[in-house]
Amino acid sequence: MCVDVIDNEPSRQALRDGRGKTRVAVAGLGLIGEGAALRLIDDDAFEYCGGLVRDPSKSRKSLPDDVLLSSDIDELLNAAPNVVIDALPDGEAGKTLIAKALARGIGIVSANKQAVAGSLAEFHDIAHRNSAHLFYSASVGGGAPMVETVRRAKARGEIVEMDAIVNGTVNYILTALAAGVGFDDAVKRAQDAGFAEPDPTADLSGDDARAKISILCYEAFGAEIDMNAVKTTALDKALASKIVADGGVYKQLSTIRKDKSGAVSASLSFVKVASDDFFAAVKGEGNALRVRLADGSVETCADKGAGRTPTVASLFTDLELASAQLPPRKSG
Ligand SMILES: NC(=O)c1ccc[n+]([C@@H]2O[C@H](COP(=O)([O-])OP(=O)(O)OC[C@H]3O[C@@H](n4cnc5c(N)ncnc54)[C@H](OP(=O)(O)O)[C@@H]3O)[C@@H](O)[C@H]2O)c1
Repeated sequence: MCVDVIDNEPSRQALRDGRGKTRVAVAGLGLIGEGAALRLIDDDAFEYCGGLVRDPSKSRKSLPDDVLLSSDIDELLNAAPNVVIDALPDGEAGKTLIAKALARGIGIVSANKQAVAGSLAEFHDIAHRNSAHLFYSASVGGGAPMVETVRRAKARGEIVEMDAIVNGTVNYILTALAAGVGFDDAVKRAQDAGFAEPDPTADLSGDDARAKISILCYEAFGAEIDMNAVKTTALDKALASKIVADGGVYKQLSTIRKDKSGAVSASLSFVKVASDDFFAAVKGEGNALRVRLADGSVETCADKGAGRTPTVASLFTDLELASAQLPPRKSG
């Protein structure tokens, strides 16, 4: 298990230095975004300055009613945040938000893998041209610092292989199946626990995992992978029955390989692992990553991959980093 610890709390240091609070807007005020907004309100180093939602007329008792609430991205950005947290579930809306914010020099901290995946090179380019910063650790691995682990491995040498459990919902369902829970009930329990969306299709089809595979490929090899080229097995009732009948420990593994010619390929499949395998110990909504380097050495990380608490913690680790990159501000 490895958890990156931010020991210098740059936004608090900035406050102590008289550089003012970091103004933060939150796009999406659902399970993750509302959790982020509540933590911002409780934290003296930040000022919560606006929220983006689909329906601003909906009652949101937990949040202050004197702070901007809008369904319009431009109106949110006009509130002049220093950083926007992207906790939207919608990939297209997220892509529009990220591109517009970065173009205005506003930092982005995203949990939205569908927005980030497929556009990383473009977003980093916009960020670079506008002196803005883009962070997306919360979009892969939840509380498991996968992006940081890949970057650390890459700094040590050439990465040749990555294996990972990247979908906490599917891992939760597999754990429940192994404990004797039926497939439909396992999906419902994952939804009730806040791990699966009301429509769990993206988790079960593998779309969610493929987006995360693409982000890991970018970090490891400098280019994303064609998500449609990732050989994928979906989880359905029939496959769940086969897994239960066979017994043993099954995991949904994302497997990414770079061959000797430099070509990168990836697959997403259900694999029976030995009971003493690194991935066998990953239970419930857990996520885990194992990175192999050309010299044979290995880097790993594991932690909770879904849910409000680990995801908001990951967003705040990135938010502290984003705050540290900001120029001095007036005291607010
Ligand atoms: N749930 C997890 O455990 C987890 C873990 C890691 C990453 N993530 C990622 O975090 C993001 C948020 O997930 P969530 O579970 O918090 O979602 P959620 O509970 O469904 O919340 C969605 C929020 O976004 C707003 N919204 C949806 N579409 C919008 C649009 N087109 N424009 C403006 N606002 C829009 C909704 O507005 P209304 O309130 O008006 O409906 C709602 O406030 C997703 O990208 C997800 O993949 C989630």
